[in-house]
Parts: sequence; structure tokens; C-alpha cells
Amino acid sequence: MTTTTLQQLENHGEFIARHIGPSADEQAAMLAELGETSLEGLTADTVPGAIRREPFLAVGEPMTEREALAKLRTIAKKNKVLTSFIGMGYYDTLVPNVILRNVLENPGWYTAYTPYQPEIAQGRLEAILNFQTMTMDLTGLELASASLLDEATAAAEAMAMAKRVSKSKSNTFFVADNVYPQTIDVVKTRAEMFGFEVVVGPAHEATATEHFGALLQYPDREGQLHNLEQLIADIQSNKGIVAVAADIMSLVLLKSPGEMGADIVLGSAQRFGVPMGYGGPHAAFFATRDKYKRSLPGRIIGVSKDSRGNQALRMAMQTREQHIRREKANSNICTAQVLLANMASFYAVYHGPQGLKTIASRIHRLTDITALGIHDKGADAGIELVNTTWFDTLTFTYDGNAEALIQKAVDAGFNLRVDGQVNGKSQFGLSFDEAKTRADVETVFEVLFGDDHGLDIETLDSRVAAGELESIPAELVRTSAILEHPVFNSYHSETEMLRYIKQLENKDLSLNHSMISLGSCTMKLNATAEMIPVTWPEFGQLHPFCPTDQAAGYGELLTTLSEWLVDITGYDVMSMQPNSGAQGEYAGLLAIAKYHQSRGEGHRNICLIPSSAHGTNPASAQMMSMNVVVVDCDKNGNVDLEDLKAKAAEAGDNLSCIMVTYPSTHGVYEEGIKTICDIVHEHGGQVYLDGANMNAQVGVTSPGYIGADVSHLNLHKTFCIPHGGGGPGMGPIGVKKHLAPFLPNHTVVPIHGTGLDNGAVSAAPFGSASILPISWMYIAMMGSRGLREATEVAILNANYVAKKLSKHYPILYKGRNDRVAHECIIDLRPLKDACGVTEMDVAKRLQDYGFHSPTMSFPVAGTLMVEPTESESQAELDRFIEAMISIRDEARRIEKGEWPEDNNPLHHAPHTLADIVDANWDRPYDRSTAAYPVAAVAVNKFWPTVNRIDDVYGDRNLMCSCPPLESYR
Ligand SMILES: Cc1ncc(COP(=O)(O)O)c(C=O)c1O
Repeated sequence: MTTTTLQQLENHGEFIARHIGPSADEQAAMLAELGETSLEGLTADTVPGAIRREPFLAVGEPMTEREALAKLRTIAKKNKVLTSFIGMGYYDTLVPNVILRNVLENPGWYTAYTPYQPEIAQGRLEAILNFQTMTMDLTGLELASASLLDEATAAAEAMAMAKRVSKSKSNTFFVADNVYPQTIDVVKTRAEMFGFEVVVGPAHEATATEHFGALLQYPDREGQLHNLEQLIADIQSNKGIVAVAADIMSLVLLKSPGEMGADIVLGSAQRFGVPMGYGGPHAAFFATRDKYKRSLPGRIIGVSKDSRGNQALRMAMQTREQHIRREKANSNICTAQVLLANMASFYAVYHGPQGLKTIASRIHRLTDITALGIHDKGADAGIELVNTTWFDTLTFTYDGNAEALIQKAVDAGFNLRVDGQVNGKSQFGLSFDEAKTRADVETVFEVLFGDDHGLDIETLDSRVAAGELESIPAELVRTSAILEHPVFNSYHSETEMLRYIKQLENKDLSLNHSMISLGSCTMKLNATAEMIPVTWPEFGQLHPFCPTDQAAGYGELLTTLSEWLVDITGYDVMSMQPNSGAQGEYAGLLAIAKYHQSRGEGHRNICLIPSSAHGTNPASAQMMSMNVVVVDCDKNGNVDLEDLKAKAAEAGDNLSCIMVTYPSTHGVYEEGIKTICDIVHEHGGQVYLDGANMNAQVGVTSPGYIGADVSHLNLHKTFCIPHGGGGPGMGPIGVKKHLAPFLPNHTVVPIHGTGLDNGAVSAAPFGSASILPISWMYIAMMGSRGLREATEVAILNANYVAKKLSKHYPILYKGRNDRVAHECIIDLRPLKDACGVTEMDVAKRLQDYGFHSPTMSFPVAGTLMVEPTESESQAELDRFIEAMISIRDEARRIEKGEWPEDNNPLHHAPHTLADIVDANWDRPYDRSTAAYPVAAVAVNKFWPTVNRIDDVYGDRNLMCSCPPLESYR
């Protein structure tokens, strides 16, 4: 007889043990190492009693992978995927299957982190460099950045950059009224907080007076093509900087804005092979003139050389963190859609210039054919074309019953762009894309003109071919070549492409090789079951502005996820709009500022930020025009409460808020966190609790319970969205009730429950909606108990590493009972004093051992911050610990003088195959010490493909496009 029940055998919590690395036996052994007997005991010893809660989550019982996928399927099916003719910056695209499976669905690509360790990231660095090269070619400008979050925020960045570089003293920024409405919305939000005035008007009015900058759209929102050359020159002669938001596909056929003199060209790269995904994630591109390179927002990948003099890639100007320079920041962009930029660049590599021209020309041809049909039959149907030129978008007026036309289109399976009443007439739009076919044109004709329209596609096509239309004026036809670099002309067969993708993937260390213990980044498992729904068409193929009844599945997903996150965070309301953590910070500060304004306290503009904060905190505050006042930390890494009291009192009536990270970036649960909240509240301020470290709170405590007013969550940390080599991300914010009326809204898709006048912070109403199923799956499969256990094991793993390493390295900060939170800081400064070994040497040497370095020199210079997460098993932690101890032993040999300070395995790390096969090996250590320093390495050797990279050389000789092929030889 067995006492096991069927319920137990069904094992609904099976995923918990898949997600959590250490088995029950391993957990017991690790607890014993710490002198603890249970996870609960460890948690009680670690988390301050004042904030610790008994199990409280109401998420419910865990589901198996199969159950969760089945449940999500039923939700997904509530979305209705219609053919979208809506356009407005979002287009259907055919993701090449070789890219879909080998990049988007491949953990080798999606689990990588931002390429902070370039020697083990040459693959994705090359893919991003291709993205930059593609951007420069298509925009006709000299310099491009890696990627930004979306077109609208890129436009807002362009405005901020224009202000930085313009010689004009004007405080106004001009936006042409034919720019996409969501872009105008985001630009206005940003401008208000910068204190700029936005003037929206017909493009030609841009020259009526002096503006520090102007934003134009090309082609414009109605599809019309304008020769911008004279207008750009006129604005510039008035000292204005001209930014042009351009459509990437149209640039294949059209004269580039760069050739027309634009200073900045930006846009979305979505239609280069990235699904619409109900708004994201997609990468934005951004290009400018070389002379503005120091003012460029976002990251730039540059070419440098390694210690053998070979060409090597890395993030340029990284040492000064380029743009996130705390209070002097020129942008807060951190996580920035790298995976999607890579997909777009691979799309260009795969199709090449000829393939892209065929695609763009087909789109244009279908548009021409449709236009000709409207010319022929429109008058009888009350339809008249508004635009006289176009690439892919037609705008028309309609005399008949607008509602009936919309419904007829929906019944036929497609969505029109609905402009409403324009100049007293109903106006609509049709945008074509590469997924459209002649059959779609037939359907459009049937809806517009009835079944017996009599139009014949072949006949219309030959009339277009015979030159009946000049829809792209001769002066706007592109004559300059695009994508001439060999990388865009070599991989057009699937075999070649597959191998190119694999060749790059092999150069990168991702989570599918070994643990990536980047502190503050939470590199946990991104489970396959969580990733599967992302590419379901019901989630991938929805246009963000489709009628809401067609997005009922998304509605349910957003509601459920919001409810779960409300429960987890202790807040009252969530906003799903911010598409990165830093965007969440911005949205949160915006809500705080508007709240103060609503109470007649708009003067409150001092933002207190502890010195340990992440750079994006002060950068976001700076974008809000807040005055940042830095609060000191004490010797234990905690916020210095006396200093806080003094600075809060000094700020007095001008105190807006504090931005505090919890547990702190020093890796400890500060005992005084409630006091911190109280001090700030006493002075009328609000508490912004940076939720990047939420992985140490879920199910144990919550920011709402602690007393904070608003937080962002990095769903790409705590809730399993993969980092994708530097994005995508999602940074939703949770707020207490009083801040709810001040959450972002959206011009095109109004968001229920928030103020009508609130502007948007992202292009899409729900940010990067199509990756939300990942977090939904995670929470569903973990259930209340799994989520809490994940937190407890994250604490266990960090304390285990800290304890084991503390015999070899000082652990910088500890909290109560000598415990760390979910991460710990290893202090390497004594090692530098003893034998010249730096944190950089240790980081690079770890690569020889097959590991990615922990976070280097953040938040304390000269240290490494380790965050193992709950997903790593004891075996993997032991391998990492063994590597760190072995490195310490190597340093000891330098201390003893056995190896010179400038000729030892740490100094020369990482070692490449080229080093090992070099006939002139002349080092005081042997080759196997270099490449196989411990036995475990042999089982799973990772070879960095370049030696240590020279950052200074790269910054002095900034080169941000693909180097000529000869230079590879
Ligand atoms: C503490 C902290 N806050 C904010 C951020 C910014 O998040 P994101 O990169 O998504 O913009 C990070 C990112 O690493 C972080 O570690």
C-alpha cells in the first residue's frame, strides 16, 4: 500500500525544482555550511524582522509547464489576428525562419548579457556593429548608436540631444504635425519635464521662428513623401538641429535624410524581421553626424584592438559610461533592445541589398497597384486619395458610412488605419508591408468597391510598370548604394546564414555555457516553457493600435499579470508601459512630480539619491530636471541616516523624493529602510524604491509593505525575461493609490484609470507587450510557494558563495548576523595593493576558467559583485568558487615574487588559442596553466576569441562601422 496521492503524483509544482538550481540535498548541505538548518531560519536571520512577512502571496498553486502553456493558449486564442493595414510605425514582417529559430528562439543569443566583457561577446558585438553600419548606410549619416528603445523615445532623445548641441538660445522644439501621434505624445512628455516648449504645426512653419531643433517625419504619417532638403537647410540657418524620423524600409528606395542634410535620423527597425508583438519589443535606430559623437544617446559599439594587435570590438567610450553619467547624464538608456537590433541586422545580412530592394519594391508595387485601383474606381465609391506621393501608405477620404466601412474591412479580415474626421471628412489609411500579397489587394478592392469591382491586378501592374504613376518623385529616388560591405553580401543561402549566426554565437558566453553572476543583473534561468509563447502568432502578430476587442487575450494577460504583481509588490496599481527599468524610473518620477503639482507643490524638485545608487537613478532624475542631492553611505554600506535626516531637512519643502534601492546595491538588507521611508515622508517627499533587486524580496517582503510609494520592476531580472545581450526588457511600475492618477496614458490607445492628460513614456501603450507571457508563465509555474522559495534560495546561494569565498577574499558589506542579501561584494583592493592584481585582471582571468565575470566596480570601484541567483546548482557554485580560489592562489604567487607583476596568467588573461599555439611562448607559466588552470575547465572549455582589449585605443580612434574586409586578414 502506498500513501502517495494522485494529487502528489501529478506533481503540479514540478517546475519549481526545475527553476531552482540546488536540490533539497544540496540545499541542506549548503545550509549546514552556514550553520543553518532550514531556509526559513536563514531567511529569518537575514531579512530584518521589521519588514519580513509570513508567506503572504495569493498567486495560488503552481502549474506544470503543460498546464501553464495550455492555460496561456486559451488566453492567447482570445486575440484575433487580422491583417493589419494600420501602419503608423508598425508593420507585419516575415521573420526569416533561420533567424527565428537560431536567434530569437536560441538561448545562445537570448540569455547573453550586455557585452561588458567584450572578449567573450565578440559575436553579438559584431551583430550590433552590423546594425550600426546598416543604420549609417540607410540614413546617409556618419555615425550610429547601437539601439534605442522605440521610435518615440528615440525622437525624445533626439530633442534632448538637439538642445545639447544646438547653438540656438531658443527654448522651443518644433514638431511637424505629420509626425506619428504616439511620437508627439512621448516628445511632449519629455519636453515638459525638461522645461522645453513644444510647438506642433505644419512642417513648413518650422522656419517661422528660431527653434533649437525640429522633428520631421519621412514619409509623413499620411504616407506623403516630401523633399526635405530646403526645409532642413532653412531650419539649420536658424540654428536649429533637424531630426528626421524615418521609415527604415522606405530608405531602401528613397533618398536618405542624411543626403538631404538632416543632423539626426531615427526610427524603428521593427519591420526588418521583428514581429509587431502588440507594440514591442523592437529596436530603434539613431544616427547623427560625426561631430556630435560625444552627445549621442545610448551605447556605441566600436572597433579597437587586443593585446596581440588584432582587431576586436567593444562598447566605445564605456569607461565614462558614455551617457549614464549620473547627474551629468545625457540619457538614462541602459537596457536597450539588443536582441531585436541583432535580429534586424541579421535580416539585412540575410537579404542583402538586392533582397531588400526586391522586398521594398514589392511593397511599393502593391501600394501603387492599390492606388491605381482607387484612381480608377474611387470616385464612384466616394473614395479619394489624399496623398499624391507614397512609398507604402495611402491615405484616403470616404464619403460613405465610416463605421460600416471599418466593419466591412474587419469582416473581410483586415484593419484599416482610422483617422476619424479630418477637414470635415472621414479619413482612412492603408499601409503595405512585406507580408502583403496580391490576394490582400484583391480583398481591399472588394471591401472598397464591392465584389464586382472589375479591377485586374495584372493589368494594373503593367500600367504601373509602364510608368503611369510617379509615386516616388524622381528627385527622391535613392541613387546612392546601400549595404556594400561584404557582410551584407555573403550570407544569402540558408546554409551560409546558419553558419554565420552560429559562428558569432560561438564567440559569446551565455547562460547556456555557465553561470553569469552579474550582481544587480539577476541572470537566472529563462526557462524554455516561458519563451515558447513569445513566438505564438496570437501574441506576435498583433498591431498595438488594433481595436481593443481584437486584443482581448492581451487584455486578460495584462490584467492577470498586473494583479499578480500588485500582490507581489504590495502596491495598488501597475503601469505596464515602461519598456526598461530606467524608463520605469522615469515614469515613476513623473508620477511623483505630477502628484506634487496636483497638490500645489510643484516646486518640490530635490531628489535624494544614496551614493550607492545605480547610474540610471540620477540620470532619470536629471531628465526630470530634478536637483540630485547625494546621500552618503556609512562604513557598512547602509544609507547614513544622520546624513539623510540632515539632507531631507535641508531640502524641506523642496523635497520631492528619494530613490533608494532595496536591498541596497551593496547587497545588504538595510535595517533602517522603514526609517528611511519615514524620514522622507515626514518632509513631504515620496519614496521611489528601485526594484531591480526585487529578487531578494518576492514573497518575503514587498516595497509596498516596507512603505515605499512607487517602484519599477525589472521583469528582465526578477521575472525571467532574458537579457538578450542588452535587451529586451520591461520596467513596469507599481504605485500606491495616490499616485495612480499620474501613471502614463497613451494618445492612440487611452489607458483606463489614469489621467486623460497624462502623456506617454513609450511608443506603445503596454511597452514590450509580447514578452509579458514570459513573466506570466514564470509566476504561474512557480505559484506562491515557488516564488518565495526562489527568494530564499537566492539568499542561500549568495550567502554560500560569500561564506566560502570569505576565507580568501574580504566580503565588503554584510548585514545582520553577518549575512548578505542575494548578492555580495568581493573586495579586490587589498590584492591590488599587495601585488598589483586588479578587478579587471580577475574578471579577465575568470574567462579562462569558463566564467563570465561578476559585476565589475559597481557600486564600489575595485570590487566584484556576485549575484548567483536561485537557478544555479551547488555544483555550479562550487566550480565558480574553485575558480575564484584558484585565482587567489595565482595572485599569491605574484605576491611571493614567483611571477612578475606584468608577466603572469592574470596579467595576460584571457588566453586565446592563438596564445597557446604561439611557437614563441616565453612566459613563466605553462600553456596548460594558461588555458586549463583547473580540471573542471577541460570538460567544458570556452575559448575567448580575442585577447584583452585596448579600450583607450578604441576611444582615441573611434570607429563604429564594420571595418573593411582587408583589416580582418
Ligand atoms: C539597480 C538598478 N536600477 C536600475 C537599472 C536600470 O534598468 P534597465 O537596464 O532595465 O534600464 C539597473 C540595471 O542594471 C539596476 O541594476
